[in-house]
Amino acid sequence: MLRAGVVAMALTVTSAGAGFALDGGDPAKGEQIFKQCMTCHRIGPDAKNAVGPVLTGVVGRATGTYPGFAYSDLNKHAGEAGLVWTEDNIFEYLPDPSAFLKKYLTEKGKADQATGSTKMVFKLANEQQRKDVIAYLKTFSEKK
Ligand code: HEC
Repeated sequence: MLRAGVVAMALTVTSAGAGFALDGGDPAKGEQIFKQCMTCHRIGPDAKNAVGPVLTGVVGRATGTYPGFAYSDLNKHAGEAGLVWTEDNIFEYLPDPSAFLKKYLTEKGKADQATGSTKMVFKLANEQQRKDVIAYLKTFSEKK
């Protein structure tokens, strides 16, 4: 009985340890992927806005709210409508940022704001690379 309990607990702990909301993201690989993001983004305690906003703490942050960055209307409106950068949302955003934000606003009944495009012209389609880069972003975010 006791032994079975210990085994069950060990299993739970193991799966929780690997337990990204998105399974299978590798932060070390994500750091390599992030080099592509660094064309426009900085991350870390001393990061400054560049072509894109600072991504330190982005996981769990409302969209379009990093201080001092001039966001597109599309990005700001999505944040005002309640969009938060959960892991899942970043995962769906990366392959086509403008389309994702327009879909979100439309679903929120704000189709009139679902116009224009975001300033983020970069797209990342590869599923594993998206998981890895999000795992890396999470290492700079309080909400894990
Ligand atoms: C070519 C430049 C460029 C590249 C490369 C780029 N981004 Fe962006 N990103 C932007 C810009 C500009 C914005 C602001 C968009 C807006 O205001 O419309 C942005 C916004 C974002 C946001 C929303 C931030 C917020 O505060 O709302 C996330 C998340 C994001 N980028 C993640 C990434 C990730 C992850 C990568 C790499 C896989 C990446 N970006 C690569 C330019 C870029």
